[in-house]
Amino acid sequence: MSDESGLSRRSFLSRLGAVGVATAAPVIARPVHAEVAPVVTGAAMDLEPVENAIPVSLKVNGKTLDLKIDPRTSLLDCLRETISLTGTKKGCDHGQCGACTVHVNGRRINSCLTLAAMHEGDEITTIEGLGSPENMHPMQASFVEHDGYQCGYCTSGQIMSAVALLKEPCGPTDADVKELMSGNICRCGAYPNIVLAIQAVRHTA
Ligand code: FES
Ligand code: FES
Repeated sequence: MSDESGLSRRSFLSRLGAVGVATAAPVIARPVHAEVAPVVTGAAMDLEPVENAIPVSLKVNGKTLDLKIDPRTSLLDCLRETISLTGTKKGCDHGQCGACTVHVNGRRINSCLTLAAMHEGDEITTIEGLGSPENMHPMQASFVEHDGYQCGYCTSGQIMSAVALLKEPCGPTDADVKELMSGNICRCGAYPNIVLAIQAVRHTA
C-alpha cells in the first residue's frame, strides 16, 4: 500500500517505530538525559523543597544522584517527577500492567510498587540507560524491526522486561516467552510482534 506521496505502510510503520522505541525516545533521548547528567552527578539536585524530605542517594543509569524526596515517593514517581526520566511509564500504578518496569541490580521490578528510598546503593537502570536512538540495545532494535508496538505506551516496560528475560530461565518456545512476559500488558494487542522481536534476539544471542 502506498499513498500519493509514495509513503508505504511499511515505511510509515518503520518511522513510527523509530519514534516508538524512542517513545522510548522521548523517553529516552529527551533533553532530559543531557540536562540531568551534568547537573546532578554526585551533587545535590536543586529541587523544590519538600516538607519532611529525606536525603536519598540513587544510582540511576550509572550516575549518582543526591536527592531530597518525600519518603513515601515510589521509585516510579521519583524517576519521572524528580529526575525527569519519563521513559518509564505509569499505567496502573498498582503493579498490574508492567509499564513501569525498570531493572534494579539487573533484575526487573515494577517501579510503582517500591519506594525510592529503599534503593540506596542499588544499580537502577531505566530505558534511557539501555540505549539511545543512535545506539539502540539489540532488543530495542528488534522491537523496531518487528513492529513490536502500536501506540508505544507499554513499550519501554516491554523492552525492559524482555532484556531481563534474556538472563532468566526461559524455555525456547513462544509460549514460554508469553508466560514470562505475562506481567506486561499491551492494550494495543501487539503481543505477536513483541514475541517475534524477543525470539529474534534470543535466537541471535
Ligand atoms: Fe507499575 Fe502498572 S504502573 S505495574
Ligand atoms: Fe500500545 Fe502496547 S503498544 S499499549
